[in-house]
Amino acid sequence: MDAPAELRDGELLLSQWSGHDLPLLQEAASDPRITRITAVPRDYSSDAARGFVKARLDAAARGEALSFTIRALESERAVGAVNLSTFDWDRRTARIGYWLVRPARGQGLATRAVGLLTQWAVAELGLREIEVRVEPTNHASLRVAEVCGYVHVGEITDAPSGTTRSLRLLRLRYRATPYA
Ligand SMILES: CC(C)(COP(=O)(O)OP(=O)(O)OC[C@H]1O[C@@H](n2cnc3c(N)ncnc32)[C@H](O)[C@@H]1OP(=O)(O)O)[C@@H](O)C(=O)NCCC(=O)NCCS
Repeated sequence: MDAPAELRDGELLLSQWSGHDLPLLQEAASDPRITRITAVPRDYSSDAARGFVKARLDAAARGEALSFTIRALESERAVGAVNLSTFDWDRRTARIGYWLVRPARGQGLATRAVGLLTQWAVAELGLREIEVRVEPTNHASLRVAEVCGYVHVGEITDAPSGTTRSLRLLRLRYRATPYA
C-alpha cells in the first residue's frame, strides 16, 4: 500500500503526521474524551509526542495503518486526526477512527474528514467495508458516521485501538456497495 503524504478537498487537508504536530498532541493530551479512546499520550512530553508521531509513520510504512492530521485549508495548524487501521486485505476491510480538539468541533470538519478518507479508501485502496466503533453516548461521533453513510450493524465490548480498557461500543459499517 502506497501511503499518500496528503489528501485534500476544496476545504480540507489531511496530512501525514510530522514533528510540526506536537502542539496538537499537547492540546489533545489534556482532553480525556480523546485520550480514553485513542493512543494519544495522556501525560504529555515532547518525547512521548515524538514517539506517537514515529509510531504512526512506522505503521504507515509497514502498511498497517494510515494516519492523517486534519486541517482546514485556510488554517495554519492541524486540529485533529483521522486514521484507517486493522486492514484485512483478503476481505478488503479496515477500521476508521477520528478526533478533533475541542475548539475545532461543531464546524463540520470531522464529517468532512471522515467522508474524504472513506471515499478515498474505497476508490484508491479498493476497500469494500470500513467499520467505526463508537460509544453509545457519543452522539456527535454517531452523527458523523451516519452522515458519511455508515449504518449500525451491532455492538461489541472491546478496547479501542491503542487503549487497554474495554468499553461497550456500537459498530457502524460503510459498504462500498450500499446496503439494499
Ligand atoms: C466526534 C467528533 C470528532 C465530532 O466532531 P464535530 O466537530 O462535532 O463533528 P461535526 O461538526 O462534523 O458534526 C457532526 C454532527 O454531529 C452533530 N453533533 C455535534 N455535537 C452533538 C451532540 N452533542 N449531540 C448530538 N449531535 C451532535 C452535529 O450537529 C453534526 O450533525 P449534522 O451534520 O446533522 O449537523 C468530536 O466531538 C470529537 O473529537 N470527540 C472526541 C473524540 C471522539 O469521540 N472521537 C470519535 C470516536 S468514535
